[in-house]
Amino acid sequence: MSVPGPTVLVVDDDEAIRRLLTAVLTKEGVAVTVAENGVEAAESFRRRHADVVLMDIRMPRMNGLDAMKAILEIDRGAAVILMTAFAEVETAVQAIKDGAFDYVLKPFDIEEIRLLVRRALEIRTMRADIVSLRRELSERYGAEGILTDNSRMLELRQTIAKVARSNATVLIQGESGTGKELVAAAVHYGSPRATGPFVKVNCAAIPEGLLESEFFGHEKGAFTGAVGRRRGRFEQAENGTLFLDEIGEISTGLQVKLLRVLQEREFERVGGTAPIKSHVRIVAATNRDLEAMVRAGTFRQDLFFRLNVVSLKTIPLRERPEDIRLLAGHFLERFAAQNDVVIRGFDPAALDCLLGYAWPGNVRELANAIERAVVMSTTSAILPEDLPESVVRGASMLAGGALAGVEAGAAAGEIDGVAIGRPLREMVAEFETKVIRAALAHHGGNRARTAVALGISRRALLYKLQDYGLGAKEGAE
Ligand SMILES: Nc1ncnc2c1ncn2[C@@H]1O[C@H](COP(=O)(O)OP(=O)(O)OP(=O)(O)O)[C@@H](O)[C@H]1O
Ligand SMILES: [Mg+2]
Repeated sequence: MSVPGPTVLVVDDDEAIRRLLTAVLTKEGVAVTVAENGVEAAESFRRRHADVVLMDIRMPRMNGLDAMKAILEIDRGAAVILMTAFAEVETAVQAIKDGAFDYVLKPFDIEEIRLLVRRALEIRTMRADIVSLRRELSERYGAEGILTDNSRMLELRQTIAKVARSNATVLIQGESGTGKELVAAAVHYGSPRATGPFVKVNCAAIPEGLLESEFFGHEKGAFTGAVGRRRGRFEQAENGTLFLDEIGEISTGLQVKLLRVLQEREFERVGGTAPIKSHVRIVAATNRDLEAMVRAGTFRQDLFFRLNVVSLKTIPLRERPEDIRLLAGHFLERFAAQNDVVIRGFDPAALDCLLGYAWPGNVRELANAIERAVVMSTTSAILPEDLPESVVRGASMLAGGALAGVEAGAAAGEIDGVAIGRPLREMVAEFETKVIRAALAHHGGNRARTAVALGISRRALLYKLQDYGLGAKEGAE
């Protein structure tokens, strides 16, 4: 079986032109069919879709513009090139707006036609490539790409598959590194929009002043530096999915504008007046507690409701220890292959470290730890010393320190040197003070690193330092 070559449908009521174009294009290796008017063209196209349609505008029975509409209804991707006399240029401009690929003026230059057809065919091929690439992506990034052995995560995967089919707006909430972006991609690639674009905006990474133009685009001259018209992310994501990452970071002003798009499904470019219709599905994600932000008045409640039509929550790694082993194995395989080394698995002591650590940075931290271990490893198994120190220390603190202390010290009326039999809050505070002091000392007083090691934000650490009177000594930042 031979692969079908490119096809062109030539439509003109003038027989001489049909013959000329057929001869020229056949020489180019294109299979040509002809029609004498719009009605015939639409019928012929229905029987056999052509890649490119080269069509006169003025013809008896159905004119070229109506025929083009009929053809585009059958196949939105057909490239229609219209041929027109000079007097009809305005009609041709309208035709472009209606979806024509291009137009040529009669009498035309054969070379121009050849070029246009070649370009139209190239673009067709590229579009087909994009569609098949996206199909491939959808196989790779579907819900099955979210590896897990945890029953709640498996439930989440099923929910994703279900909600993906709808057009509902989705809000994904979860700690940093728990796979929110993976979930967003699974929603898109599991949806009927999978062959459309998946466009991501990281709301935290774009300066406040530029975010509106990033979302909605801008017209030429809308502000200093707007040298040309620019399509925004909403336009880029048309007929696909727009992933608004870190949605908790957008200003209240922009929240209003976003709310409007969600309500009315249209927007304007910055500096523009014409409303643009939007057929975009929104998936938003945040690691912040949006409900609390609503209560605090920093996030609009109406926007929250609009975003939270479907709510998906990712689960911290420490709440699904069964996934540590699974994901560690998965990352080991991936990074070993990437680095072209053979590593058979984890030494039992290393595995204990992985299982004993709290993973404040969740799956991302685990992936980084394994990548580092693969690079450091000198034997055929990952050893504890190949792992980041924070992981080994964190694990031993949990295993040998606090937990062992509960058993050994409980009888003596103290746990790890903290006297028991007092209000819980007091005991916890004393223990926390000790842990923080030790962690600070270990990190040479560096608060940023201490916060990371303890799995809390720097701000939270600062509060605790103040609360526990540890703030007096200024440490290196
Ligand atoms: N269940 C999983 N299976 C396989 N890979 C995972 C899984 N969960 C997360 N990952 C991987 O871990 C890394 C972090 O995930 P992702 O970027 O989706 O997290 P996130 O919640 O968006 O994090 P952040 O809040 O920091 O942006 C990615 O490389 C992702 O592919
Ligand atoms: Mg993310």
